[in-house]
Amino acid sequence: MLLTPVLSRYWDEPRSWTLDTYRRHAGYSALATALRMSPTEIIELITDSGLRGRGGAGFSTGTKWSFVPRDGKPHYLVVNADESEPGTCKDIPLMLATPHALIEGAIIAAYAIGAGYAFIYVRGEVIPVLRRLHAAAAETYAAGYLGHNILDSGYDLELIVHAGAGAYICGEETALLDSLEGRRGQPRLRPPFPAVAGLYACPTVVNNVETIASVPPIIEHGVDWFRSMGSKKSPGCTLYSLTGHVTNPGQYEAPLGVPLRELLDCAGGVRAGHRLKFWTPGGSSTPLLTDAHLDIPLDYEGVAAAGSMLGTKALQIFDDTTCVVRAVLRWTEFYAHESCGKCTPCREGTYWLVRVLERLEAGRGTAADLAKVLDIADSMLGKSFCALGDGAASPIISSLKYFRDEYIAHIAHGGCPFDPYQSTVMATRLSEPVRPVAAYAR
Ligand SMILES: Cc1cc2nc3c(=O)[nH]c(=O)nc-3n(C[C@H](O)[C@H](O)[C@H](O)COP(=O)(O)O)c2cc1C
Ligand code: SF4
Repeated sequence: MLLTPVLSRYWDEPRSWTLDTYRRHAGYSALATALRMSPTEIIELITDSGLRGRGGAGFSTGTKWSFVPRDGKPHYLVVNADESEPGTCKDIPLMLATPHALIEGAIIAAYAIGAGYAFIYVRGEVIPVLRRLHAAAAETYAAGYLGHNILDSGYDLELIVHAGAGAYICGEETALLDSLEGRRGQPRLRPPFPAVAGLYACPTVVNNVETIASVPPIIEHGVDWFRSMGSKKSPGCTLYSLTGHVTNPGQYEAPLGVPLRELLDCAGGVRAGHRLKFWTPGGSSTPLLTDAHLDIPLDYEGVAAAGSMLGTKALQIFDDTTCVVRAVLRWTEFYAHESCGKCTPCREGTYWLVRVLERLEAGRGTAADLAKVLDIADSMLGKSFCALGDGAASPIISSLKYFRDEYIAHIAHGGCPFDPYQSTVMATRLSEPVRPVAAYAR
């Protein structure tokens, strides 16, 4: 069986979000086990399990926790529930369906790193998620799993659900911390890393929602169970989100390393009558791939070997009706809007990329514009202050790698050859003599 529902195993039960339902599924038993362990034992167990952060970078969770110094300062746990990356849509369904899975994981993680306060920083626009988390937190306090002397262990923890104000950059962990402190969210210079100087300059662990929700099943079932799924370097199972031109879009929980071809089979394939054109492995910030990559293993190593990144496992599927130039322009407009303005390559680069891509998409571009967008993207990639700049450059560079001819066709035909709304205009233009494509090639 391909699918391995763990986090999503009872999402379709009536009132799956209540404490009663969670307890019926052995909820909070992992917390009781964890509180009988020492914090060091928990960190070792999570490190041995090989759990890697599900927020994008895939860093070892146990290793991150082990960086927190054992000093006299207050420690903090911050759950990153900002989820604003285009295409990424796994944390919101998880929090809506089973908020207690996240809260139980947060209590265990906070105990392991010696935190007295845990924060869940939620994207402010998703009011239903905020309401659900507030209600679940209230149930958890009432049941004695939060607050003073949790389950008679002597451990105290306060949980704060915090609403962000709707900026994509506030998902970047250091910008998130600035925002949580009440400042404008902009990334901080590292080092020092949050594990040493994070919230209020105190040791802080920032983890993604899915990462933290994965902790209770690992405590409950053990390292061998978790490592029986996935690959050696990318063990376990995870939520893959299929969206776009797919017959049955949704969340598919499967072992890391499953290829897109198998996930598409589960999801009924690309919508009827069409074929896959391109896709993103982890949201729009990860270089796009094509139908030539259907069989690569969707784990951190497999996707990197194919020249992209697993990221958030947001598999956006685009079929043959999609204009790649238009899709890339839309993403670039998003990044230009969300650029925080702190560093020049991203602030200026995203602005100018939109200008040049608009020209190209409208068929008013030139061969020199292709070189220009690549040049601007290159000046952002690896040279911006934070990874938003890399994310903005990635769709452009990868689309030109795989679909240069389509950009050239826009120039040659004076517009989008795929746009049904412009078909009359295009029909006229296409009847005109077409300039030789070679004239636009680099
Ligand atoms: C622009 C930008 C936006 C990000 N947005 C999110 C987000 O919404 N959620 C998230 O968990 N991580 C996001 N990240 C990654 C975080 O900075 C951080 O790596 C992550 O929360 C760490 O958690 P993990 O180790 O559990 O993956 C973002 C990074 C960047 C550069
Ligand atoms: S890369 Fe963009 S979002 Fe990141 S610091 Fe620079 S301007 Fe801000």
